[in-house]
Amino acid sequence: MDEKLAAILDRAWGLLEHAVGHRKTPMHLGLLATESESGPQARLVVLREANRDAAFLRFHTDIRSPKFAELQCDPRVAWVFYDPSEKVQIRLLGRAEIHTSGAIADEAWVNTVPFSRRCYMATIAPGSASDVETSGLPAELESREPTLEESETGRGQFCAVVTRVTEVDVYTLAVTGHRRAHFWIENGEVVKAEWRAP
Ligand SMILES: Cc1cc2nc3c(=O)[nH]c(=O)nc-3n(C[C@H](O)[C@H](O)[C@H](O)COP(=O)(O)O)c2cc1C
Repeated sequence: MDEKLAAILDRAWGLLEHAVGHRKTPMHLGLLATESESGPQARLVVLREANRDAAFLRFHTDIRSPKFAELQCDPRVAWVFYDPSEKVQIRLLGRAEIHTSGAIADEAWVNTVPFSRRCYMATIAPGSASDVETSGLPAELESREPTLEESETGRGQFCAVVTRVTEVDVYTLAVTGHRRAHFWIENGEVVKAEWRAP
């Protein structure tokens, strides 16, 4: 692959990997798009892992959320990230793998702090209609973090979703004219790369 193209892909993975552990970095949140019965759906999720060597991204969600059912029907996903200070947009396509049990889900759960686990302790499923304004949480948990022991009740609702990335599109803003590079990935390896007109 052309050295400049390789450097662009390297920078893109570097930004994503950095964003995982840096909550204030814009790419800590990614826009995840799925296909639903009624057409496209998109929402922000927290990027929990980015792995350039194996070309995957990971996020966590509630198995009762509409996106879980969407991913079961159609695992194709699109992600979009943008960092205004880096002036770069990263779009990725891939296939989602759902992990409700097994090593990936268990490790992700162990590394989820009780405050974040609280989301999975809602007694009303995400997206369900409610007659009254609600957090979905048991009332006593609205004002405090669950203990580690209490938070285990959230495990059954938790899943890790791994996107096996198949395409990456990097759009870099520049006063001299924007630049765009596109990459195809198979089993973690770049199999094709090209410049594109922005
Ligand atoms: C800043 C922010 C971060 C979020 N992170 C997540 C997340 O990591 N996982 C998740 O399932 N939902 C997250 N959400 C909520 C989703 O955007 C979405 O509203 C919810 O998951 C329901 O999506 P669905 O109806 O498409 O399943 C986040 C929302 C915001 C505003």
